[in-house]
Amino acid sequence: MKKSVLRIKKRIFDNVKEFYGAYHQIDSAKKNTGHIPYASRVFDENELIALVDSSLDFWLTAGRYADKFEKGLASFLGIKYCLLTNSGSSANLLAVSALTSSLLKSRQLKPGDEVITTACGFPTTLNPILQNNLVPVFVDVELGTYDIQVEKIEKAITKRTKGIFVAHTLGNPVDINGLSKIVKKYNLWWIEDNCDSLGSKYKGRFTGTFGDISTCSFYPAHHITMGEGGAVLTDNPLLRRIIMSFRDWGRACYCDTGKDNTCGKRFSQKFGNLPYGYDHKYVYSHIGYNLKVTDMQAAIGCAQLKKLPGFIDARKRNFCFLKKHFKKYEDYLILPVPTEGSDPSWFGFPILVRESAPFTRNDLVNYLEQNKIATRMLFGGNLTKQPAYKNVKYRIFEDLRNTDLVMNNLFWIGVYPGLNRYMLTYIKNTIKGFFKKI
Ligand SMILES: Cc1ncc(COP(=O)(O)O)c(C=O)c1O
Repeated sequence: MKKSVLRIKKRIFDNVKEFYGAYHQIDSAKKNTGHIPYASRVFDENELIALVDSSLDFWLTAGRYADKFEKGLASFLGIKYCLLTNSGSSANLLAVSALTSSLLKSRQLKPGDEVITTACGFPTTLNPILQNNLVPVFVDVELGTYDIQVEKIEKAITKRTKGIFVAHTLGNPVDINGLSKIVKKYNLWWIEDNCDSLGSKYKGRFTGTFGDISTCSFYPAHHITMGEGGAVLTDNPLLRRIIMSFRDWGRACYCDTGKDNTCGKRFSQKFGNLPYGYDHKYVYSHIGYNLKVTDMQAAIGCAQLKKLPGFIDARKRNFCFLKKHFKKYEDYLILPVPTEGSDPSWFGFPILVRESAPFTRNDLVNYLEQNKIATRMLFGGNLTKQPAYKNVKYRIFEDLRNTDLVMNNLFWIGVYPGLNRYMLTYIKNTIKGFFKKI
């Protein structure tokens, strides 16, 4: 780039920095005295500068920033491959769809095969199972951790069971030791929905690095954001190729965008019933999608990635603060418990109102909302009770008693890095006010 152009760029970036200070910084200071969100974007001038930088490139589709982010996240987690996509839901769709590829030969998932999951969670963990004509088998969750009851999984397995796809609920890792043993014993695929748990560890290793495939979300509520965005991660080169194909229209070619002839055989191969030498760029080996990310999203992600270690620490600190101050209400509330051997990078602070309490979940939620503290349900509660799943084929193993309890009695509040001392103290005092009246 010419020196004169670089000088213009610098002027633009200086202006962006000034704009950030004049607009966003003042705005965020104001926010501290009002509403307490359950989550929000935490950013500074660096995210704005990265976004403007990528827009000045005007490359638009996945480019240098996407490449940098993919390498950066893979290296942070200690996994070989990271593929960016346009949302966490797309990442989940890609993860499950990849397992239906004929390139996996005898391990290819076929319609009617069963995948073990929970009904207590986010719909787009479940949806790709259904969208691929697979049958979800719901196993109940554990109270306190809200993760799948791993000890029940083995009994839920049948000849048709081919995979397990579960989230680390609200950042709390599943019993990875237990799950690993089952996956190995029954030769199952294992997808980790790591969308709510980026930065969580189990026995010193990051979640998202244990399963065959894992997924992330970069929606603003999540640990880092791109506005919309997601990632699929794997150590397996064949799975990487398949995921990339499904993401990029189903194409067989694996050239990066804007590159040609990476395989060196672009015009000298035979595929299906196509004529010999048909351009590899236009050969389709899967019935795919276009779920790619833009470079503007990835640019924001690159700036956020630098903040990730600090964000993880802040989430843990905020969680500890809340846990300490909620402890005295344990006669009425079940508080979150980290899975044994884990160090969660919490997404939220789940609170379950005991059935014996003299008030309901809704009483407490209404009180908090009236006092401007945002609350959230544990996503879909019991997904089998949602209208969308009324006529779909699924199997429930034993019962979903705890899932129902979560649906009826649980809510969560935020621990996101933007919560400051003032906000946390406000939450503590507001809760105190509620219990004074009981
Ligand atoms: C566990 C889980 N999986 C998947 C998703 C979907 O992510 P996205 O909103 O980026 O599509 C979410 C969304 O919050 C989630 O909580």
